[in-house]
This record gives sequence, structure tokens and C-alpha cells, in this order.
Amino acid sequence: MNELDDPKIYAADPDDFLGVVEELPDQVRQGWRLGLGAEGIEPAEVSNVCVLGMGGSGVSGDVLRAVLGPKMRVPVAVSKGYTLPSWVSSGSLVLAVSYSGNTEETLATFDAAVKLGARIVCVTTGGALAQRAAQEGVPLIQIPGGLQPRAALGFLAMPLLAIVQRMGLCPPIDADVEDALQLLGTRSDQMHRKVPTSDNQAKQLATTLLGKLPIVYGSEGIAEVAAYRWKCQFNECAKIPSWWHSFPELNHNEIVGWDQLQPLTSESCAAVVLRHPGEHPRTSKRVQITTGLIEANVASMTPVRTEGRSDLAAFLDLVQVGDFTATYLALLQGVDPTPVDVITHLKDELAKS
Ligand code: F6R
Repeated sequence: MNELDDPKIYAADPDDFLGVVEELPDQVRQGWRLGLGAEGIEPAEVSNVCVLGMGGSGVSGDVLRAVLGPKMRVPVAVSKGYTLPSWVSSGSLVLAVSYSGNTEETLATFDAAVKLGARIVCVTTGGALAQRAAQEGVPLIQIPGGLQPRAALGFLAMPLLAIVQRMGLCPPIDADVEDALQLLGTRSDQMHRKVPTSDNQAKQLATTLLGKLPIVYGSEGIAEVAAYRWKCQFNECAKIPSWWHSFPELNHNEIVGWDQLQPLTSESCAAVVLRHPGEHPRTSKRVQITTGLIEANVASMTPVRTEGRSDLAAFLDLVQVGDFTATYLALLQGVDPTPVDVITHLKDELAKS
């Protein structure tokens, strides 16, 4: 029997991180509703959109950019740092996202956006961001607390999509959301802890990746962000190094780097390639050729395909497979997927000065 089929293994997950992963479909539904119901969001003319956020919160901006960016009337970018891009102005829509509400980079850029007179909406559980939003009369979408930010992607990202739709900056995506919820529900049941490894894609992949350094490749757009998300989940849940890149860009640099350390990489690196129906046909060709070229240089090469019909469904499906896989991998290692002690320590040290 695979260890993941033995209920004893779940003792390593005292906060039930896996339970939160299993409930992603419901969280996505709630996040969408929170965004649709929020007060103070009116259709408006804005010249661009800038999302502020770091780590598990900032990735919500990447989701907006990848899923809706190509369909939006105005450009969207994500600011991950202490300073706003110079093009942010009073004509911008600024979406400040911080799960804790206390992330100093996000607070710094929020303050700068207030000074510029930009139109702002905050998404947070509370903290200093909620206080400043109240002081400045900025609309706030308050999301449920008690989770790790990276386990709250549905609460963090879906309100951003709803805001952009409600402001008339993209065509309506209600049908895509319904489609995504259906797919997520089906796929979540298929990867649930109760489903044995023999039938469970995420448990199988975690078993393949155990003891290896995961390299996650995705194609530009939704799979690029999904690949980054997978890498971060391997870091934060399984506490292992991982790296990611995207097609077609990796064909112009990273592919050369597989040349020299073959004995090392074929032993220690395991590749995962995220595929989706919206890939550019030339990108599909590139993936096919590239996987053939590097197969002998990695311990395993696993394609992960989504059949999601919309970009939203395809993206969330890929994310869900990655979240399950990283959590199962943590458990296979006997590692608690929840805490991120190094991040907490770093923030404590910074708070002293
Ligand atoms: C922890 C995590 C981190 C935080 C980041 C920013 O699970 O994912 O990447 O998201 O340190 O903090 P918040 O999200 O509170 O603004």
C-alpha cells in the first residue's frame, strides 16, 4: 500500500491544510460571491489596473493578468515591491491585496496610491490595510481569516475578477465561473485523500516527485502563472527547492542549461509540464520537441493536462492539481504543509527595525 493511502500519514497535517485544498471549489464560489456583492464598486473609466500584493496574495494579481488580461479594455500589471510603477496615476484602478493586511511592501504602495488619488479597492482579512482603507474611505472586500495566504487563493483572486467585471473592464465571465466550479468539483473528488493512489493523479505525481527537485514548465499565459504557483507550493508546503519557467521563452535560454550536468540532473530533477487547450499551436509544437530533447536529462517527465474549456477553468484546474500534489508530497516527507517558519522569522526580524 502507498503511504498516502494510510490514514496515519495525515497526522503530519495537524491544521488540516489538505482539508482546505479539498475545499477549493467552495472557496472559489465564495470568493466570487464576495466580489459580486461588495459595496462601492461602480462602472468607471480607468486607464490601467495595477494590483499590489506579495507572495500568496500577490499571485492573485498574476491570476487576473493571465486569465482576464488578454480580454480587458485596459492594461493590467502586478506590483510586487515597495514602489509603484511610474505610470500609476489618478486615472488608475489600484487593487491592494494582502491576506494579513500587514505586509509592509503592500502598505507602502497602498499609501503611495492614496497620495496619487487613484481609485482603490482593498482585499484583506483585516490588519493595517483594513484600518487604512476605513480611514481613507476606500472600498474593502473583507475575506475570511484563519488560513495561510497561499491556501486562500479563491478568496484572494476571485474578488479581483468580479471587480474588473463589475467595473465593465472585461466581458462578463459568469459562465466561465460556473464552468470552472463544475470542473473543480469533479477533479477535487478525484484527488481527495480517500481516493487510492492507483486512481489518484496527485498522489501518483507526489510519489514520483519524492526526493527530487521539481522543475515545472508551463506555456505562456495561464500555464505560466500555474507553473509559478506550483513552484511556490513546493517551496512553502513541501519545504523543498523547485524552479519553473514558461514556453516559449525557455526555448531561448534555459533549454541550453540541461547540457552539462546530465549525471546530476537525471538523478535529482523531475520535470512536470503543464498543458492546456488554449496553447498557441506553435507552443504545443515547441513543448513536444523540448520534452523529447530533455527527457534523458531528468529522472521523470510528467505532463499534466487540463481539459478546462475557459482560461479560468483551465487555470484553476492546474492550480488544484498542484496544490494537492504539493500537499501530498509534504505528507510523504512527514512535513507539516502549513507553517512557513522562515517567512515568519524574517517578518519578525524586519519588524524590530
Ligand atoms: C504564506 C504566504 C506568503 C504571504 C506573503 C504576504 O502562506 O503564502 O507568501 O502571502 O508573505 O503576506 P500577506 O499575504 O499576508 O500579504
